[in-house]
Amino acid sequence: MAGRIRHEDIEAVRERTDIVKLVSGYLTLKKSGHDSYSGLCPFHTEKTPSFSVSPAKGVFYCFGCGQGGDGIKFLREVEHLEFAEAVERLAKEAGVTLRYEGDSPAERRAASRRQALHRANQEAAELYHRMLADGREGEDARRYLAERGIDQETAATFLIGYAPGYSDFLLRRLAKTLSTEILVEAGLVLGEGGDVRDRFRGRITFPVHDLSGRAVGIGARSMPGREEGPKYLNSPETPIYRKGEVLYNLHRAKGAIARTSDIHVVEGYTDVIAMAQAGIETAVATCGTALGEGHFRLASRFAERMVLAFDSDEAGARAAERAFQFLESYPVRAVVLILPEGKDPADVVRTEGAEALLSMTKEAVPLVEYMLRRTVARRDLSTVEGQSAAVAAALPMLEQLRDPIRQSEYGHLLAELAGVSDSSVSIALDRRLGGRPVEVRQAVKRASAQERVEREMLRLLARGGEPVSDIVDRLEPVHFQMARNRELFALVHAADGDVRGYAARSDNDKAVAALSALAVEPTESEPTRGYAEDVWARLQEFALKRRSTEVRSQLQKLNPQSDPRYDELFQQLIALDGELRRLRGRAHSIG
Ligand code: UTP
Ligand code: MN
Repeated sequence: MAGRIRHEDIEAVRERTDIVKLVSGYLTLKKSGHDSYSGLCPFHTEKTPSFSVSPAKGVFYCFGCGQGGDGIKFLREVEHLEFAEAVERLAKEAGVTLRYEGDSPAERRAASRRQALHRANQEAAELYHRMLADGREGEDARRYLAERGIDQETAATFLIGYAPGYSDFLLRRLAKTLSTEILVEAGLVLGEGGDVRDRFRGRITFPVHDLSGRAVGIGARSMPGREEGPKYLNSPETPIYRKGEVLYNLHRAKGAIARTSDIHVVEGYTDVIAMAQAGIETAVATCGTALGEGHFRLASRFAERMVLAFDSDEAGARAAERAFQFLESYPVRAVVLILPEGKDPADVVRTEGAEALLSMTKEAVPLVEYMLRRTVARRDLSTVEGQSAAVAAALPMLEQLRDPIRQSEYGHLLAELAGVSDSSVSIALDRRLGGRPVEVRQAVKRASAQERVEREMLRLLARGGEPVSDIVDRLEPVHFQMARNRELFALVHAADGDVRGYAARSDNDKAVAALSALAVEPTESEPTRGYAEDVWARLQEFALKRRSTEVRSQLQKLNPQSDPRYDELFQQLIALDGELRRLRGRAHSIG
């Protein structure tokens, strides 16, 4: 074995080890609470479970024998391994490539610098917190937080602090163990040489941590009545703090997020804190930067649904608009929570309670829908020009949707909102796509094969009888991609294999005509049972292909090593491809 394993790699292993999964390999765990699982302790003999695991914190503890620690410790104890051996095994499991000390001097210097930056931030946060907890200068800040309804326990959890008004509070205390240069690089201190001073003065401080819980920066709010400079002053970007890659509170929230599949993305520190205090533990915020791709990547590692809960003003809408461009690239569904005019999530939980906010979450609308509605609402729909401008403005959004089903569904919605026909939206969309000949040609080719097969199936269905008797109940609207065919399918269903009977009772002339057309159009081959099965196989093949393309493109965006969804999706893909191969054997005779 090489030298010592690098500290950051051990951290990465610690962070990525799923402790519940690890422990479950040795004993049966049962969910026993909010953030806990319990089972019979493997380290001593017992009949009632006193061994518990906290997935969010990544630790275990036995109330019976007092053993406890992280995943590495667990594996060491249960398998009697050396520290490095345990780390190596877990690294393999978690897909972390370990590096060992003995790296170049430059690398070592950079690593120890990063460590110092973390330490500077952590110590600053703690000093400020102590000042808030019981410092003499912290008096006003304590009162202010109390007025805003933030209690002491919450302040401690979030390590909220107060930076006193004078310019060397931090300098004097930290300079003993950290160089001024590091303090400047960390952005805690401003200036150079002998002329340096604290960056944060007379402000409430909110330390920001990275995913593994290391302090990386600070957001500092001005005190009321002492507003100098911006309302929030934030740490600058540093080697350990890239704002596009950090979500405030994610390290605390990730367990709850994974459990509930929801992440609430709010605008500010105070929203996160107010929500957590009210019992909603799934809130995170961007830190003085716009919601970007890195945030989506992070969120999609833990959540299936991303609830964008912004103030109902323009800024919130702009954030949602920005979010839209990442929507298709990450396996997370984004929905927009529209808050009552002029309120932010903190206001809502304070005045109406957590339940109120959660019930609003239930009514959150998909981001695409939100955007379409917003875009259309801006136009005057009383004129044809206004309607067409609304459709034109919304088309780029539809175009961006990769999934043809969603594209056509949202096409319907757009048509409805703008008060135009479905076909005018789809024609307009086709024209736009016309800018890119290859894609259009492919789409047309695929569409025409699909369309032909769909139409053939409809003809068979309209004939009804024995050839399709086994198929009718297995067909679903999703098997029909063309909106028109989907409508026909609904009609055929309503007619239930008896077009003449339907015609007799229906007063919908158009429907009757359409159905009759289907029933009399000749099929491409003899409408036998075997042929019907072939057509059905072909339709399934199309649906599977769409699904497989979708899964494949999702997979391409995931990190196979670190993303918990990768395996599941990969299995799905294999199953889909197997199913496809099976079908291809059958569906050669049509399309
Ligand atoms: P808000 O102005 O909504 O602040 O900005 P807030 O967090 O709700 O604070 P309170 O409730 O008024 O005390 C939302 C977020 O935008 C960033 C901060 O991250 C803030 O939490 N921001 C705002 C800045 O970075 N700088 C600013 O000057 C203002
Ligand atoms: Mn706010």
